[in-house]
Amino acid sequence: MSVRHLLDIESLGTERIVQFLDTAEVFFDVSRRKIRKVPTLRGKTVINLFFEASTRTRTSFEIAGKRLSADVVNVSSSGSSVSKGETLLDTVKNLEAMRPDVLVIRHSSSGAPHFIAKHSSASVINAGDGTHEHPTQALLDAFTIRRAKGAIRGLIVTIAGDITHSRVARSNIHLLTRLGATVRVCGPRTMVPHGIEQLGVSVFDDFSAAVEGADVVMMLRIQRERMGEVLFPTAREYSRRFGLGRRVLSNAKPDAIVMHPGPMNRGVEIDPDVADGPQSAILDQVEAGVAVRMATLYLLAGEAGQSPLS
Ligand code: CP
Repeated sequence: MSVRHLLDIESLGTERIVQFLDTAEVFFDVSRRKIRKVPTLRGKTVINLFFEASTRTRTSFEIAGKRLSADVVNVSSSGSSVSKGETLLDTVKNLEAMRPDVLVIRHSSSGAPHFIAKHSSASVINAGDGTHEHPTQALLDAFTIRRAKGAIRGLIVTIAGDITHSRVARSNIHLLTRLGATVRVCGPRTMVPHGIEQLGVSVFDDFSAAVEGADVVMMLRIQRERMGEVLFPTAREYSRRFGLGRRVLSNAKPDAIVMHPGPMNRGVEIDPDVADGPQSAILDQVEAGVAVRMATLYLLAGEAGQSPLS
């Protein structure tokens, strides 16, 4: 099965999602070896084009490309001619002229990677576009859940916080419902999109009820930078009603895992003793990110019939 771009989860079939997750298992093992490098993408060029800040996604795509022996170049808006007013299309056309194999793009405008894919002969990976999707985050989240729980089908996953502005929530809802999880969402009504039930989730107003019996509790960051107006009274009030502390977490299954895509607002949506506690899978998510991004680069830029490790 060949795949040209990874733009969203919504248009990926179940078989394809499982292919990404299974391939990531191979690269997870590579990342735990003493020598964490394979020749798979030797001679290929990956450009990471980040128009928004990132720690985890950008670093893990760079490490993923380097572990696959690709040549990796990082471009950010502040250090490029974007800061002089060059358009997105001109930027991409100029990078295209250097013949990259893969463009990894993060942009504040929903749909930017789809636009680039229409004008690019390179494979395009969406590393987060506005409030739309963050497909590799959902894949690494599913990978983390599958490793912790053995399977995704039949699990109860509670996603809580600023659902409206979260591309992570949208990608996870598409992926987890497709793989057979029961997905609950919870947050202030001002941060839960009207009609989200149509995506196959149930909406909860009460956080303790949303967490009751859950196998996975996924907390989301309040995205103040995407809010045009104030959507909650104070951080203290938000934390009191929707922050994950040990008391609320005790409603979940005893072996439930806690997830957060990062960056965290400690003391707002999650208490430090939960973020750093025994049920936290937050750093497991970060480790999974490298394996999932290696799998993504291999599936998009590897030669037909090429095995993952050669
Ligand atoms: N989860 C995530 O996208 O983190 P970064 O913004 O640091 O890449």
